[in-house]
Amino acid sequence: MKRFVYISLAGLGVLFIYYLVNRTTSTQTQEYTQVFSSEIELCTTCPPGFQLNDDNQCISRNLYLQYESLEDKGVGGLKTALPEIRDGFSPQQIDLGRYLFFDPVLSADGTISCASCHDPEMGFSDGKAVGVGIHQKKLKRASPSLWNVAYLRKLFWDARAGSLEEQMQGPLYAEDEMGATEEQLLATLNGIRNYQRLFAEAFPKRTANDSIKLHEIYTSIAAFESTLISLNSRYDQYAHGYHQALNENEIEGLNIFRSFVARCAECHTPPLFTNQQIAVIGSPEPDGLPFDPGAEITFNDKTRRGGFKVPSLRNIEKTAPYMHSGKFNTLRETVEFYTKGRGHAVPKNENLFLHWHIWEPNLTDTELDRLVDFLKTLTDESFKPKVPDILPSGIDLQNFNS
Ligand code: HEC
Ligand code: HEC
Repeated sequence: MKRFVYISLAGLGVLFIYYLVNRTTSTQTQEYTQVFSSEIELCTTCPPGFQLNDDNQCISRNLYLQYESLEDKGVGGLKTALPEIRDGFSPQQIDLGRYLFFDPVLSADGTISCASCHDPEMGFSDGKAVGVGIHQKKLKRASPSLWNVAYLRKLFWDARAGSLEEQMQGPLYAEDEMGATEEQLLATLNGIRNYQRLFAEAFPKRTANDSIKLHEIYTSIAAFESTLISLNSRYDQYAHGYHQALNENEIEGLNIFRSFVARCAECHTPPLFTNQQIAVIGSPEPDGLPFDPGAEITFNDKTRRGGFKVPSLRNIEKTAPYMHSGKFNTLRETVEFYTKGRGHAVPKNENLFLHWHIWEPNLTDTELDRLVDFLKTLTDESFKPKVPDILPSGIDLQNFNS
């Protein structure tokens, strides 16, 4: 017993010295971090759910590939295929993208990374009503989850980006998000020896001494985002034929979800739980905030005023608060919105073209509870990627390295 106490004390001492050393060196020379992080090697195997082919590409593998296309089967059924996935990136590009995703060096002042607003511990969202960018600037909309973005053809709540590469240039260069410029981003990354080496490894076709290019940065981050796959929830097990994966309440919830009374599956179509279309549902803004015209701006189309892209509901349990505005704090509140009457939350001076599947299903309290039970079966984080221990820039990972 005594010996154990001595060993523990010695352990604490070592930890304390380690803390002191680290505290002084991390603010000291660049050299220290360079040596420290030269240990970083890019992964040569694919993440789980992907298989390496002969061309060094990671190809998605999942049980939904056994089913025929969405068009052939009734929309929203259990054994239906997924839309086409964005895959074929190399393991090295995916792993480099992981480092970039977590590295605040991409922002103007080195304080904010993609993961600041898309935190793997919070369903790749941030737990806030709206995102908070550089210098604590509040954004206009909630940070969406990034699970399964590889399947999405349109990005952003208002569908204004057509690819992951196009999308990320929003936050990277927006003054109130990461605040960088193209020139600054290139200068920063090209000035870090670790990144020079890692980009050369991930893009082997370029000639020696080539500098890091913007499209290589975009490709790597898109490669990483495309590996955030969540398709093994209890719902999925049920869909593939394992009946016991859901309990009675959850199956009842699924049936309500798919019923022509509630109509959830008309828009949140399985297995992705979105049909990827724009729908005007008339969800409210938080008190005091102006009306968000949404997709009206994207398409310059009045009939889409207040319209938003139907979000996927996978891992929805993890990403409160809900809706583009973060107005609803719980799933129960969100689901209740649909049964409070068509257009009940639309401001009086707005005349919206509400979607025809938004109506008055008159769901009972019990039915709303069952819907929430069901939504919670869509949780699967088994392919959650590992947060890097150290970053190529040498910047501390702050709260992400726990
Ligand atoms: C300051 C917070 C913040 C940062 C930093 C940030 N995002 Fe976002 N992200 C958001 C918000 C808010 C939205 C939704 C904005 C909208 O729709 O108008 C969003 C949307 C997205 C989407 C669209 C998802 C969908 O379903 O349409 C993707 C993908 C994404 N971000 C990836 C990234 C990547 C990659 C980075 C780093 C380069 C990044 N984000 C940095 C807050 C942030
Ligand atoms: C007409 C299409 C449509 C129907 C029907 C529909 N939804 Fe939605 N749903 C949407 C759209 C669009 C949004 C995003 C709206 C916004 O942000 O203002 C959304 C948002 C949500 C969200 C919040 C997602 C997030 O990431 O914040 C949940 C939960 C949800 N719906 C559940 C349901 C349930 C349960 C039903 C059935 C009772 C249902 N929806 C019916 C289109 C639809």
